[in-house]
Amino acid sequence: MAKRSKSSDRWLQRQRKDYFVRQAQGGGQISRAHFKLEQIDKRFRLVQGKQRVLELGAAPGGWTHYLENKLNGGLLIAVDPLPITSGQNTHVIEGLAGEDAVDAEIDQILDGSQLDLVLSDMAPNISGIRTVDQARAMDLADVSLESCNRWLKKSGAMTIKAFQGEGLDDWVADLRKVFAKVHVTKPKASRSESREVFVVAQGFQGGTKAP
Ligand SMILES: C[S@@+](CC[C@H](N)C(=O)[O-])C[C@H]1O[C@@H](n2cnc3c(N)ncnc32)[C@H](O)[C@@H]1O
Repeated sequence: MAKRSKSSDRWLQRQRKDYFVRQAQGGGQISRAHFKLEQIDKRFRLVQGKQRVLELGAAPGGWTHYLENKLNGGLLIAVDPLPITSGQNTHVIEGLAGEDAVDAEIDQILDGSQLDLVLSDMAPNISGIRTVDQARAMDLADVSLESCNRWLKKSGAMTIKAFQGEGLDDWVADLRKVFAKVHVTKPKASRSESREVFVVAQGFQGGTKAP
């Protein structure tokens, strides 16, 4: 059997001790990420009833599962190049957000209607070079914002994962020009040692079409 590296040993030990990993394993949640969305939603009341929601970076499906339980007759589109565990009614698109083919599928599903909420838990492949990884993360933030410009209704909301570092403050300042309220938050379920934060933006002002 291949010998595990010290860093994967450390990862395994941390996973075993982690409160939210154990909660997910015991409670039937697909991933620890589930609790991050739950905590954000509790605070900002993002997910309600019959909304139309686009979820970017959905695999393995923790957020998808949470959304499926909370949306009551709404529409959910989940995008990721990796496999997503989802219910029958979720529209799963296998591919990268921002790709033409993926955009075309979203257009087809929405059929002229607009979204109430854009969510992204997308994370870039980590190179280990901080500036490169931060630039990739900011590119993903831009992809989410492009989705809002294309499909989000006026007064709609967006929540994305971001990483503290170069470019984030300016990006958030620009976001305040197109959303009425913007918060940067770190839910308890997000590891304290991680630079991960979530940007919650509500009251989109850039919508062009009626909902
Ligand atoms: C932290 S995981 C998401 C976890 C998920 N929210 C959950 O609750 O199970 C990040 C995901 O982002 C995806 N991802 C990265 N870049 C992407 C892109 N351009 N489009 C779609 N998904 C992307 C990765 O494939 C990965 O599955």
